[in-house]
Amino acid sequence: MKIAIDGPGGAGKSTIAKAAAKALGLIYIDTGAMYRAVALYAIRKGVNTETEAVDALLPEVEITIQHEGDTQRIYLCGEDVSDQIRTPEISVGASKVAVRPAVRLKLVELQRALAKTNNVIMDGRDIGTYVLPDADLKIFLVADEQERARRRYKELLEKGEKCSFDEVLLDLQFRDKNDASRAFAPLKQAEDAVLLDSTTLSLAETVERVITMIKGKM
Ligand code: DC
Repeated sequence: MKIAIDGPGGAGKSTIAKAAAKALGLIYIDTGAMYRAVALYAIRKGVNTETEAVDALLPEVEITIQHEGDTQRIYLCGEDVSDQIRTPEISVGASKVAVRPAVRLKLVELQRALAKTNNVIMDGRDIGTYVLPDADLKIFLVADEQERARRRYKELLEKGEKCSFDEVLLDLQFRDKNDASRAFAPLKQAEDAVLLDSTTLSLAETVERVITMIKGKM
């Protein structure tokens, strides 16, 4: 079973995919976390995430995923970095390293290997179009930009991050544009994906719709 959930930042992909995975016994794979881990590695090494120096680091970058209950933990060279990768700086860095084909090819290999051996629900930007073109179900989850920024802002405040709403909105706008305009595997709705707009839906309603769609494929 392969379920792909793509869409712009802050649309609720990970929360919804996690809830659906728990309800249906699927393994949730958060591919954005992998791009975030690469960005964290580059930033720690003092490398500009927009330059080709990132490609040179790739042989050193070892990413592994472990599942504890319904949550995914991500390890960078053996260190659990699941919490460190959730900052606004890493969000923007992840979008920048994700432009690079060498970065994508390395991570897509890992993503496809995980999908081969597990029943997965995978979220990202290019899962339906590039990583798993033969997925059993593809969902393109969207929501109004202001609403996405509000949700992301609330999430960051709850985690104790210091940021302003405008900063979060600008970051989202930058990432959406950057992710959708890159040449290789950009953010895009697959032709055979179902469009789901969560702007006016509650989390529970969105999860229910996604679960119903998945059950229809089981
Ligand atoms: O889903 P996220 O916000 O954690 O993703 C962080 C960045 O990683 C996002 O702005 C673009 C990139 N990304 C990508 O290019 N392809 C994916 N499949 C997942 C994420």
